[in-house]
Amino acid sequence: MKRLCRSMTAAVIALGLATVLPVAADEHARAAPPYTPGLGELMSANQMRHAKLWFAGEAGNWPLAAYEMDELKEGFDDVLAYQPHFKGKPIEPLLKPTVEPALAKLDAAIAAKDRARFEAAFDELSRACSFCHQELGYGFIAIQRPTAPPFTNQRFDAAGQP
Ligand code: HEC
Repeated sequence: MKRLCRSMTAAVIALGLATVLPVAADEHARAAPPYTPGLGELMSANQMRHAKLWFAGEAGNWPLAAYEMDELKEGFDDVLAYQPHFKGKPIEPLLKPTVEPALAKLDAAIAAKDRARFEAAFDELSRACSFCHQELGYGFIAIQRPTAPPFTNQRFDAAGQP
């Protein structure tokens, strides 16, 4: 009787595991969260675009400058879509009134192929970047004109076009 009991217990456990294990494995597959880019990652991409934009504009490569502008705008759209809050504070009120006017001035300067206007608008954008960092307690992330191209495997002058 004791033996029968033991083997019955074993059978019950085995049956239990057989039903539980696949469920657990399935749940594990379902538990993997969808990938959401972090604000730091989105900002690092924005930093790269910001630098490339500068060298494209300085080289008078206006099509590349316009392209980097589109990428930068998409980057900020992604910030609002994926990370609309930072430490409980909404991002949009800090972004819209500062970054958008600077981007609009950059668009106009690029369309006019006007380097002086481009430089002034670029500095306004950099101030808007630093302003938000300051407002959110990250004033130590200060943005400025880049002094050297971030990548040497890409030409920023228009002569690089085939
Ligand atoms: C509306 C707010 C806001 C604006 C505008 C903004 N940032 Fe940021 N940025 C942040 C916050 C918040 C962080 C910190 C994110 C974190 O640590 O998760 C950050 C972090 C960064 C970092 C640090 C990333 C790292 O991993 O080292 C860089 C670089 C950066 N931003 C560049 C920029 C640039 C360039 C611009 C403008 C073109 C800009 N940011 C505009 C809010 C902003």
